[in-house]
Amino acid sequence: MPDPSLDEFATRKLQALERRELRRSLPSTEKIDGRRVRSRGHEFVSFAGNDYLGLSHRPEVVEASLEATRRYGAGANASRLITGNHPLYAELETRLAALKNAGDAVVFGSGYLTNIGVIPLFAGEPDLIVMDEHCHSCLIGGAALSRASVVSFAHNDPSDAAALLDARRRRYRNCLLLTEGVFSMEGDLAPLPELAELAARFDAWLMTDDAHGLGVVGGGRGSSFAFDEPVGVSLQMGTLSKAAGAYGGYICASHEVCELIRNRARSFAFSTGLPPGTVAAAARALEIIATEPELVGLPRSRARSFTAALELPAAQSAIVPLVLGGATRTIEAGLTLQEAGFLVAAIRPPTVPAGTSRLRIAFSAEHTERDVQDLADAVRPILSER
Ligand SMILES: Cc1ncc(COP(=O)(O)O)c(C=O)c1O
Repeated sequence: MPDPSLDEFATRKLQALERRELRRSLPSTEKIDGRRVRSRGHEFVSFAGNDYLGLSHRPEVVEASLEATRRYGAGANASRLITGNHPLYAELETRLAALKNAGDAVVFGSGYLTNIGVIPLFAGEPDLIVMDEHCHSCLIGGAALSRASVVSFAHNDPSDAAALLDARRRRYRNCLLLTEGVFSMEGDLAPLPELAELAARFDAWLMTDDAHGLGVVGGGRGSSFAFDEPVGVSLQMGTLSKAAGAYGGYICASHEVCELIRNRARSFAFSTGLPPGTVAAAARALEIIATEPELVGLPRSRARSFTAALELPAAQSAIVPLVLGGATRTIEAGLTLQEAGFLVAAIRPPTVPAGTSRLRIAFSAEHTERDVQDLADAVRPILSER
């Protein structure tokens, strides 16, 4: 039953977004293969997805998903603690723990559900959360749900984090130090060795969100493995929806920590398990990530060809941001690239801070070197106007 006051409320909010050029729409998009999409009535080479290894279309991954769906059905139909814990989960979690050199792993319904479930379990009202200012919305959401005191440090600045910890840590019971491993909108790596040292010095628990690190950096094992020595990260979180080409989130940690998560994380306990086909696809994708180092090296090497062609700082991951400033200018630049046949994400607030709207270019193993150079040619005039 329509309610006029509710509609009026929504209309006013939408108009305010429109005035700030921040109203979004949902373009219907069909993937053609690992690199091309059909969207907005045209076909594009896409640099706007996160399928860094093209695994969502890899025949073995698709076949694993189809076979599990045929045998076990389309949905799990209950939470994992009731009857939704299909035996395929055991293989997936064993593979994850092995890849991340962790004692155990827990798979959630999504990366978002993982963060909003895990963070409140390890930080509550008497605790402190210290997080990078550019952390993803679901880390911020998890921190807010925890009711802990939350402070942010300047992006990738361990000395700012140290100053905050030094001033505040002793007033709180427990402390969580949160960062992304590879930042989703910047493409840079967090300084994990320094953050791990801070966690040890200030008796804090280090948690990384490696949504964009798995399958891309550290030989595919993620950001904890992207430095001279593996970095000890107590809570390694990530998603199976990007390089793994499937869906679902995970946390890798010790067995005790994972047992507590299985028992108490609300977004784990009170949400239906993943469809068996999704679990099977993710398990097959992880096997590929663990055994095909050449494939895993490709997204970053494509990104580096691009940054070299435009004389930009060398890409640290598969993501290259081109910060243009205003939302309108960024949308126009995205449309210019669409006219040249490329789909690139135009990112505006609230995803990034005001004044830092950007093109976010994501490279995949499926892109050819020709694709990369053609995109660089199309981007050059946009950059020269910057
Ligand atoms: C850094 C980061 N964390 C978490 C997520 C959420 O993961 P999922 O899409 O599996 O919910 C994303 C994806 O958008 C992300 O970029």
